[in-house]
Order: sequence, then structure tokens, then C-alpha cells
Amino acid sequence: MSESTHEWWQSAVVYEIYIRSFKDTNGDGVGDLDGITEKIDYLSETLGVDALWVTPFYPSPMADFGYDVSDYRAVHPLFGDLAAFDRLVARAHEAGLRIIVDFVPNHTSYKHPWFTESRSARETARRDWYVWRDPRPDGSPPNNWLSVFGGSAWEWDENTGQYYLHSFLKEQPDLNWRNSALKSAMYDNMRFWLDRDVDGFRLDAVMFMMKDPEERDNPSNEDQAALMHKSLGAYDAQLHHHDQGHPDIHGVFREMRAVLEEYNGPRIALGELHIYDPVRLVAFYGERMDELHMPANFGLLKVPWTAAGVRALVDNLEAALPDGAWANYVMGNHDDQRMASKRGEEESRQAAVLLLTLRGSPTLYYGDELGMREAEVTPNQIRDPWGIAEPHLTRDGCRTPMAWSPSQSAGFTSADEPWLPLSSDWADRNVASQLDDPDSYLSLYRRLLTLRKQSPALRMGTYRALDAGPEQCFVYERMHETERVLVAINFSSEPRSIDLADFHGRIAVSSDRPREGGTVAGSLALGAHEALILV
Ligand code: NOJ
Ligand code: CA
Repeated sequence: MSESTHEWWQSAVVYEIYIRSFKDTNGDGVGDLDGITEKIDYLSETLGVDALWVTPFYPSPMADFGYDVSDYRAVHPLFGDLAAFDRLVARAHEAGLRIIVDFVPNHTSYKHPWFTESRSARETARRDWYVWRDPRPDGSPPNNWLSVFGGSAWEWDENTGQYYLHSFLKEQPDLNWRNSALKSAMYDNMRFWLDRDVDGFRLDAVMFMMKDPEERDNPSNEDQAALMHKSLGAYDAQLHHHDQGHPDIHGVFREMRAVLEEYNGPRIALGELHIYDPVRLVAFYGERMDELHMPANFGLLKVPWTAAGVRALVDNLEAALPDGAWANYVMGNHDDQRMASKRGEEESRQAAVLLLTLRGSPTLYYGDELGMREAEVTPNQIRDPWGIAEPHLTRDGCRTPMAWSPSQSAGFTSADEPWLPLSSDWADRNVASQLDDPDSYLSLYRRLLTLRKQSPALRMGTYRALDAGPEQCFVYERMHETERVLVAINFSSEPRSIDLADFHGRIAVSSDRPREGGTVAGSLALGAHEALILV
């Protein structure tokens, strides 16, 4: 790999912006497109990320805060208009930032005109754009499939006497990706945004798009404890063998890739799929690297936080990645508990070092660069529909407003009340307060991002785990031509000493100690929970 064959997205650090909570410019308490445009200098210069993934800003009844789209080709007035979108793209591109928009292919809103037509009569042209089925003879739903957000995945429609399928809320009917007219219409919707010069898509919930054509019942799950991901409540009572993940999805990915390749690019597809077996995950790059540019890899969110656990995750992915495939790593997003709350202070700082030094393109979540915590959301403040159905699963805590300054409402809004409460420590953890503090999270992230930009080894070099470390230390090397970078992470709460007989260099970054610039020769002392980058 060299600078000339390395594509922009393989060097990119992607920053996820949950638009409702990034920056409000018109005082209604909700973030908007102009708010992102206003913060481009922060993103490109102060912080130094390369691409922005913006969560849905399309017209929507907001049953699932924008993941229920009622018009794929417009902007919800809450967030601005198409002119505001064009301004964002222009300003971002001028600053060298790429724009990745969220695209929601599995379902529309029930208010989308396609669904209004589809549910109006059995004979209508777009009836088959959604999944309509007769009841069983006793009137019950056609099979046992469940909605991720609770209850049956089938909703009875009195008017036409059939059930329709919804893998998420009943306000989010699933589209029928076996209908070629629907597919063409969705590809045209992608072209609409590509024509407006977006650099790619984050494709929502893609594994749900193709189901078992025979629509067989899911088997029950006898082995709940063995599940790696967080309990989704009743949904985990089944093994999801038939309601998602049918291999026909590969054909759809190839068609989507072909749409992207109609444009000068590369324009990329970053797919949301929750697969924790690396061998299964890498299948979605495509046999000829002609499907997703990057299937999202959520492994770091679920892995046991030990040196052996994290090393195994990385080594197994490295071993499974086929030639030409490029990894992605996620450490936070709008569906999961924030890193700083899950891991605590020291561990989330070492997690930042890990995320920004592995081989692959990392995805950062807004606010994680400040060590933002989960906000306390009282039962009457819950806004997430999933939280309303199952309060312990609410995602509101990780979706609260970005803290920009110690002034009123953290500089997020001029409204008295933002749409969700601020995280309780916003007065200390905000951009302005952390900017000049060399020990802050933000300063750590800035150093990491600067080093990554300057270092071909970190951006595109090889990866190799070293057996140098004592137990509970993960040490790895990144190499490009003659440049060698070592990363050493101590997962234990005791200091550790590592034998690095063949290494002479200096400390470029420490996760939490003032020892940068110090020389290293032969052996290395690591503080408790410390992570170091050596150059
Ligand atoms: C995944 C998104 O990340 C999540 O926020 C949303 O609720 C579901 N897909 C349904 O679109
Ligand atoms: Ca606003």
C-alpha cells in the first residue's frame, strides 16, 4: 500500500454527528444543518477529523428520530432545507472534509407516500413495494417474527385485511427489496444525494433488507447467555435466522456499489450490520471487493476489556480480512452507551489510543472527544421510542447535546431547554474548557489525530501484535516502509514493565501521563491503565 493507491476513506477518521444534538442555530433546542456548517473549523482544524457522517435529516414524523423517512429527497424543516444542505457540503469540501449521509433502505415512515398508496388497496401499483401477507387461518400474524423494538413484527391493517411487516416500529414498514421497481426507486434516491456531491452513505440496518423468501418461523434461542451483544429484551428469545440476513443481500450490495461507481469518487458505502464473527463479517466486502467498502465493525463495543480479549478481536479480524479489504472500528454511536461511562476515565483514554492506532478507519462519536458521559434521563424525559417501550434500553443517554462552552445550555442552544437534558458534567467537560488544558480528553484526541495524519505507518501501515508484553499488556507494531510505530497498552491496574530489546525511540503520546518526548531504549515502564505510542 502506498499514498497513491490508498483511497481517501482508507485514511479517514469518520466522525458521527447525531444532528439533533450537535449545534442549534435557530434557538428551537434541536441541532440543525447550519449548526454543523458553523462548526466546520472545529471539526477540520481544531479536532482534525476527515469525514462527517450525518444522521438522518430528511422529512420524518420522528417516530424513531429520523430513521423513519417520509421523503428521501428533502430536508426536514427542523434541520433546514436543501440550500442549507448544499452550504454544508460546500463548506465541508472547502475545508477538506467528506460528507457521508445516512441512508435508510430497510424501511420508510408509514407516512411516506409510497406506503400511503401501498396500504390504500390490494390492487395498487405500489402494494408490493412493502411486505403484505394474509393472516394465518386463526387470524394471527403470518409467522413468529418479532420487532427489534418490541412485540410482533406484523401489524394488522383493517382496511385491506392483511398484515404488513415492520422489523422496527409499526411506524417503520419494511420495504420489499425483492421488487425491482422499488429497488430502482431507491437507487434513484441515492443518486439524488450523489448528484449533490455527497461522498458516501452510511447504510442503516442493512441485514434486515433480505429475509427468508419462505418466511419460516425463527427458532427459539436456548442459549441467551452466550450472546455477545447486549440483551435486547424479548427480541433475544429468538435466533434471527429467517427474519434477516438472507444471502440475497449480496446482490443488493453489488447493485448499490454499482450506483456509487457511476460517480467520480470513490463514493463509499459504510454498512450498519451487527455481526461479531469476523469470518462472517468480511463476506460483506464481496468476493471481488464489490459490495460494501466497509461493513461496520462493532466488536470493540462488546469485547471483554482485557489485553487478551482485545488482541484476539483485532488478530481474528486481521486474519479474516481478504486482500483489498479495509477494516473499520467503532467505539461509540447513537445506539450504545457512551465509552466514557462504560469504560471509566482511564480506560476510555486508552480506548482512544487503541481506536486511533489500529489498522483501519475508525468511527468517532461526537462528544467522545470530550469524554462526554451518559446523561441521566429521568423516566419523564425519555424520548427514544425503544426507551418508551423498554426503559432500561433507552438510547437517550448517549444522544444528549454536545457541550461547547461553560455558558448557558453549554453553548448548544439559546433555548431554555434543549430537546434532551445536558450531561451533568457539561460545565467542566466542554470544548472551550478543555481546549487549553493539555491533560484534557480533547487535547489527547487532538494529539492522536495529528500524529495519525503525520504518520503513514498509522494510516496505512501493516499491523503485527508483539509477544513482548507481560500479561494484561497489548503491544503492537505498525510499519510502513522504514517507519515503525509501537503501541503499548496496559489493561491492568498495576504498573507493568515491557521488554523492547530492539526498540530505541521516544514516546509520542501517553494516554494520561506527562511523559511525551521521553526516550525509550530496551525496556518500557507503563503506568496502570496507561497506553503509549512510541515512534
Ligand atoms: C439503526 C439505527 O442506528 C437506529 O438508531 C435505528 O433506530 C434503527 N437502525 C432503525 O432504523
Ligand atoms: Ca435548530
